[in-house]
Amino acid sequence: MKSIKNVLVVGGGMMGKNIAFVLTANPALKVVVTDIAETDIRAGIRANCRQLIEHSVITEAELESRLNRIVFTTDMGSAPVRDADLVIEAVYEDMAVKRRTFAALETLCREDAIFCTNTSVMSPSEISAELKCRTRFAGTHFWNPAHLIPLVEVVKSDATSDETAETVMALLVSAGKKPVLCQKDVPGFVANRMQHALWREAISIVENGIADAETVDMAVKYSFGLRLPQLGPLENADMVGTDLTYSIHDYILPFLESSDKPSPILRELRDTGDLGFKTGKGFRSWTPEEMQAVKDDLNTYLINVLYGK
Ligand SMILES: NC(=O)c1ccc[n+]([C@@H]2O[C@H](COP(=O)([O-])OP(=O)(O)OC[C@H]3O[C@@H](n4cnc5c(N)ncnc54)[C@H](O)[C@@H]3O)[C@@H](O)[C@H]2O)c1
Repeated sequence: MKSIKNVLVVGGGMMGKNIAFVLTANPALKVVVTDIAETDIRAGIRANCRQLIEHSVITEAELESRLNRIVFTTDMGSAPVRDADLVIEAVYEDMAVKRRTFAALETLCREDAIFCTNTSVMSPSEISAELKCRTRFAGTHFWNPAHLIPLVEVVKSDATSDETAETVMALLVSAGKKPVLCQKDVPGFVANRMQHALWREAISIVENGIADAETVDMAVKYSFGLRLPQLGPLENADMVGTDLTYSIHDYILPFLESSDKPSPILRELRDTGDLGFKTGKGFRSWTPEEMQAVKDDLNTYLINVLYGK
């Protein structure tokens, strides 16, 4: 396994800032962020960490000391870029931009540097297709908000070496994350495949008049949603018995949504401009105060569950 000391985050936007902050949890790491635009990443991280301070998860002094260990540069030819042992790319979700970024990085970084992409949905195999050393490339899918959600999906491309995957997993563990290895480069990796299977069924229930959107969300929040953080679906299947799970699936699966297209009501909402929080109306109507409360309550809940604060 390679030893990693210098990490370069390319792209200091919403994800890049939080990823850089997360990495400073390992005091041995030097973290450099680069962006094409001059960005006040310290101010961005400060704003994101406001609730961590309010809930006493970290102190002002700890935040300041961690911020002081993050260097920002717009100079891609500078020494911190050349010295990177590992690069995490968090630029726009655009295949051409990502491929161009890695092609440039390959000319600027050391020959043994490991390259990671934080793509949400794109194929790491496709992003790295034209790179010289594809064995040193992997996906690292951080979840938003990256400074709170522990999971990072480490995605092997069709060429990622075991050593690269192990090195990336170990780095993430050293920064306090809970990495999981996705052995195959498939759309949705591991977690989004499950998340969107649930969303498809949730939307289908509304579409078929079985329950309204608020009821669907309540049904999740006050039942299996409560136990999911403690009991994964396959642990649960074992707990109730694989025989019972088989019988339930044998009966119910033919009735579940299996469309391979987005729901017509989702298309209708999009086409009529009911874009959810962006416009104040989606599956439900939202006041500005309600939308802010949803965001604040989520972070407060996550901090409580993760840190007991
Ligand atoms: N937003 C999310 O919820 C989320 C979650 C998981 C993964 N992601 C993925 O993370 C990546 C970044 O998303 P984001 O939400 O932070 O985007 P963002 O738009 O907030 O930030 C992208 C940043 O990249 C910079 N940039 C663009 N081209 C660059 C280049 N060639 N070199 C250096 N910097 C460059 C931009 O100036 C910008 O600051 C995307 O691939 C996205 O799909 C996003």
